[in-house]
Amino acid sequence: MANKFYVTTPLYYVNASPHIGHSYTNIAADTLARFMRDRIGGENVWFLTGTDEHGQKIQKAAEEQGLAPGDFADKMVSQFVGLWKALDISYNDFIRTTEERHIACVQQVLQILYEQKDVYQDKYEGWYCTPCETFWIESQLTEGNCPDCKRKVERISETNYFFRLSKYQEWLIAHIKAHPEFIRPASRYNEVLSFLELNKLNDLCISRPKERLSWGIPLPFSPEHVTYVWFDALINYISAVGAFDESNRYKSRWWPADLHLIGKDILRQHAIYWPIMLAALKIEPPKTIFAHGWWMIGEAKMSKSRGNVVNPLDMVNEFGTDTYRYFLLRDVPFGMDGNFSEEAITKRFNADLANDLGNLVYRTLTMIEKYYQGSIPDKGEAKDAQAKKIEEKIKSLGGEVSACLAAQADFDFSAGIEKIWELINLANKYVEETKPWNLAKEGRSDELAAFIRLLVEVIREVARKLCAFMPKTAESITGQIGEKAIQKGQPLFPRRETS
Ligand code: MSP
Repeated sequence: MANKFYVTTPLYYVNASPHIGHSYTNIAADTLARFMRDRIGGENVWFLTGTDEHGQKIQKAAEEQGLAPGDFADKMVSQFVGLWKALDISYNDFIRTTEERHIACVQQVLQILYEQKDVYQDKYEGWYCTPCETFWIESQLTEGNCPDCKRKVERISETNYFFRLSKYQEWLIAHIKAHPEFIRPASRYNEVLSFLELNKLNDLCISRPKERLSWGIPLPFSPEHVTYVWFDALINYISAVGAFDESNRYKSRWWPADLHLIGKDILRQHAIYWPIMLAALKIEPPKTIFAHGWWMIGEAKMSKSRGNVVNPLDMVNEFGTDTYRYFLLRDVPFGMDGNFSEEAITKRFNADLANDLGNLVYRTLTMIEKYYQGSIPDKGEAKDAQAKKIEEKIKSLGGEVSACLAAQADFDFSAGIEKIWELINLANKYVEETKPWNLAKEGRSDELAAFIRLLVEVIREVARKLCAFMPKTAESITGQIGEKAIQKGQPLFPRRETS
């Protein structure tokens, strides 16, 4: 088993408030980090998130609010930090691309690549999409517009600096072919590989003239230019763990990253630009890049202009942190697109959380109160077939959940949760079949005690396994079921009315 786990999320642009898409990646990363801490020890897990603060988008958003970009970024960062707190995101480090530790590292990377001639100056002539900050050649345009955002492009001619992507294309193809786990899920692996096999990479323009964009990291060898925001931001994955610093923390400890979690829209930058940047620096590539799907609102993408952007804090206020985490991880297999709606959350809430989990905990606590005055019975071993089945499931559950959350299974959170629910459902069925009220009436006290003890074992195991997915719920369950006695609280998930 690996002795360390370094997981990252994208750095979120601070031009707008965080939405459910951003929260999705962080909840997934948090769940894996918690899961791995439990398995290999907290000191062996490093979970990095942060914010992407340079570039045109942010400069423009700051101007619109009449703020200096740095002040604007400070204001927006607090929204992300606040949301991560509300969602119980247990990151170890939060990097901002405007921090000195990052800027110094980016400049060092640029200097190395410039000196070894992997970065060179050239005159650029072509089309430019300002909102996307991307250069396009004539043949790439869609009806004269940007192929990504479909907006108008401008004709520009300027001196810039370029990174030799093309030189490393063959290396990247070979690397991908030799490492099926490098890009996941398989559909994304195929997408990148066939793109590379069918297209010749152009070198990447990594600078912007200061007169057009001033909000960026200056090139160490040309103060008239700032660094292209993607080239700057990707470096966070090594700058945050101290690449090139004295402590050598990164080489000896965290790098290569075990997992870069991203959304499918930023695959090209992560699976093509980033490994090539590392190869040029003679740094090992990350082990796995996993691109998850998109949350849609009905058939539509979320966007400010459509006015359908969902604020995660509203969802937390309405449903609670753990219900929100549960829904995102359970409703859609990781890697696929999903449909977000409050009705869908309510449905999951009532069926899985109120009916199954909440009910099991509540009815068990109620029986312990009623039949044992709150003390957990300490003797008795259930011997019937259903009890044996449950005992076996308790034993195998840990392995089953681990298998689902492994890289080989594409971090299938939904299937992992399903395994936990198999145990919950077995236990609920056991209650219905055993009819404990009859055991009590008939004075079959040994059987009743054994039955209750087994339910307590089930609930303890469920709480242990839920820790990574729903930390507050796990804590609340453990708080209610003590070593010897119970402390019954309010029902965990009181049923919600459906509209
Ligand atoms: N700043 C870049 C990333 C740099 S990483 C070195 C960026 N930022 S972003 O804020 O626009 O997007 C961050 C992530 O949110 C992306 O992974 C993107 O896929 C994800 N999502 C944005 N909208 C989303 C949904 N509707 N659903 C799921 N995730 C989506 O890109």
